[in-house]
Amino acid sequence: MKYTPLGNTGVDVSVLALGAMTFGSKDTWKLGGLGQDLVDKMVSRAIDAGINFFDTADVYDEGESEKTLGKALQPYRDRVLIATKVRGKSGPGVNEIGLSRHHIRQAVRQSLERLGTDWVDLYQFHSWDAHVPLDESIEAMQDLVEEGLVNYPGVSNFTAWQMATVQARAEERGFSRYETAQMNYSLLNRDVEHEILPFLNYSKMSLLVWSPLHGGVLSGKYSKDSKPPGTRAGNRGLFFPFFDEKTGFDIIERVKQVGKEQDATPAQIALSWLLSKGHIVLVGAKTMEQFEENLGALDVNLSSDQVGKLDELTRHRIQYPNWMIERQSSGRTFPVSEPPWTRKN
Ligand SMILES: NC(=O)c1ccc[n+]([C@@H]2O[C@H](COP(=O)([O-])OP(=O)(O)OC[C@H]3O[C@@H](n4cnc5c(N)ncnc54)[C@H](OP(=O)(O)O)[C@@H]3O)[C@@H](O)[C@H]2O)c1
Repeated sequence: MKYTPLGNTGVDVSVLALGAMTFGSKDTWKLGGLGQDLVDKMVSRAIDAGINFFDTADVYDEGESEKTLGKALQPYRDRVLIATKVRGKSGPGVNEIGLSRHHIRQAVRQSLERLGTDWVDLYQFHSWDAHVPLDESIEAMQDLVEEGLVNYPGVSNFTAWQMATVQARAEERGFSRYETAQMNYSLLNRDVEHEILPFLNYSKMSLLVWSPLHGGVLSGKYSKDSKPPGTRAGNRGLFFPFFDEKTGFDIIERVKQVGKEQDATPAQIALSWLLSKGHIVLVGAKTMEQFEENLGALDVNLSSDQVGKLDELTRHRIQYPNWMIERQSSGRTFPVSEPPWTRKN
């Protein structure tokens, strides 16, 4: 296992982290329904493989994900980092949602109880909340840090201007930095490359990649005509409204070809491509076999030629004003897209 610093902090986390969205036997969102026995097995295998970073959320399986993960992690609590989130609807009350002081304080108490721990290592705003004044949310987060309930704040599903505003306001107020951004990124959705990644590099935040296999699509198990029952796409359709089947499945064929060159599966290639960019990847799995396969991505060493081929496969058109900034920077000592402070594993 390789380790990398979490944002600009002094702690190191494994480059593969285990995502717990499939955990919990209520299976509210039809994503996994993993009961305690299987969760214990997966967590124990993760620890053996060197994983020290685990991600969940208060809303995953109505809190069952936090409960099962917390229980499985009890024997290892001091050597792992637990990340969870607040923002989603967590109960029937009109205020049991969002990033108000009221809801943040209520949600953290409930998460700590379900996780069976006294502190959360990384507490993430699950997405921007336009309903609440930003100062109210960041003051509530700061209180949690000062009370020792949270070690590091983070965000998820924020735009770049939203992240920049949070960091600037936190700095002005003398509050803790937000160390991470948890965002969707994969060979099938590279939107973060436009504005988010340059901002994260600039502010020394880590990217935590969610749905690195695009909900399982990059495993190569689907085709235009086949979405077998029992799979995520078969059970609930594809989570991503923008998945374009026409080009998407052609891209997966190309990923399979690189897999043949490397004697690796398409899932391993897709994960390895993300690891080659230096990000922290949250792997999700519904079975031990899938988890084993995904761990195998650590043994794939893509050549720079293969990374280049995969880059070209789904590269976006550079957006304005970025191309203008690139043009005006030509001849300088480094490309604007790769500043010297960019951290690679
Ligand atoms: N912040 C956010 O808004 C947000 C959103 C989503 C996820 N997340 C985080 O990111 C983590 C990972 O997300 P994700 O579960 O969507 O990741 P993913 O890797 O894109 O999808 C995982 C799913 O794909 C299938 N799969 C995984 N490995 C496979 C393999 N080797 N072969 C065939 N199928 C395979 C399984 O589903 P089936 O077997 O059912 O097909 C599995 O549950 C979550 O656990 C959560 O911690 C965060």
